[in-house]
Amino acid sequence: MMAEVDYALVGAGMPEQFPKLFNDFINRQTATYKLDVYDLPNGYDLELNLKDYVPKEITLKKPRFIPIISYDVLAKRFKDSEGIDGFIVEGPDAGGHNSKSRNKKVDEKREPVYTDKDYADLKKMLEYGKPFWLAGKYGTPEKLKEAKENGAIGVQVGSDFALCNESGFEKAMAKHVRDFIVAEEIEVMTDADLSPSGFPFKKALIEGTLSQKDIIEKTKRICTLGYLVHAYLKENGSIGFRCPAEKPETFIKKGGDPEDTKSKICLCRALIAACGNATDSEEPMVVTLGKDLQTVKKLIQEHDGNYSAEEVIVFLSSSNK
Ligand SMILES: Cc1cc2nc3c(=O)[nH]c(=O)nc-3n(C[C@H](O)[C@H](O)[C@H](O)COP(=O)(O)O)c2cc1C
Repeated sequence: MMAEVDYALVGAGMPEQFPKLFNDFINRQTATYKLDVYDLPNGYDLELNLKDYVPKEITLKKPRFIPIISYDVLAKRFKDSEGIDGFIVEGPDAGGHNSKSRNKKVDEKREPVYTDKDYADLKKMLEYGKPFWLAGKYGTPEKLKEAKENGAIGVQVGSDFALCNESGFEKAMAKHVRDFIVAEEIEVMTDADLSPSGFPFKKALIEGTLSQKDIIEKTKRICTLGYLVHAYLKENGSIGFRCPAEKPETFIKKGGDPEDTKSKICLCRALIAACGNATDSEEPMVVTLGKDLQTVKKLIQEHDGNYSAEEVIVFLSSSNK
């Protein structure tokens, strides 16, 4: 808000707390956010008073707020909520984290078994009356056109931009990945187990990254960043934090379920490494991309090996002129 952003997008958790949070910030009231805490049924109210952080001369502007959802059911729930200005509807083919499959099934490779039920009903989305954008395999002019024909305002695209020149992707790995995409030698799978968040995560299968068992086994399990930790109630009544990807003994000592530690990797460190910001150059990366990389291939080939963010937008808009 201090950077005067026009939009705030939130892709995780339940979005109902955000509109009030923005209002409290603007009105300089103490803002509260309810944190989910294991063993504490009513959660814990985190408090933040902006006067401790933002000088009063700075006027804050309220951003429009767009939650990222997977199912029309959530849109129905929030269709009349004040302060929710639209929805990004993201399907299971998108890069990054995905929702669990509705049938909760996984196949023998531990990929969630997604079916038609895992794609939002766009007719219902239209009935709810709020603007929406579609995401997950929508990064082509044809899919943008199709999205608009189905009532969407536009699309949200991640994978095409992740590999453009302006992206923060670690340069050597980005080149490597672009070469694989042109040669069609890259496979992206949805891993049901790897993320400490408990949600499926898209990983590109690339040698030397944490998509490989031997690299996972060689990597020390430590939690130094803590972006995906779980809050829990400690015996002395205070709140503690634990991560299923930290050393299993430590996680279990903090009351965590041993089952939760299986197949987990430290996504925080691996993704920071993929952005080229690892503190240790040996830190293994994880590469996340969506299922459709055809636009990336096309843009690389058309623009001699690399392409800009502007070229992505020009390409996507090409059938909408
Ligand atoms: C490298 C990468 C990182 C992403 N990180 C996030 C994230 O932190 N939060 C989020 O809500 N979505 C994230 N996404 C999903 C995108 O916001 C977007 O919805 C998705 O990539 C669209 O589908 P596509 O991959 O087919 O373009 C990420 C996607 C990629 C490719």
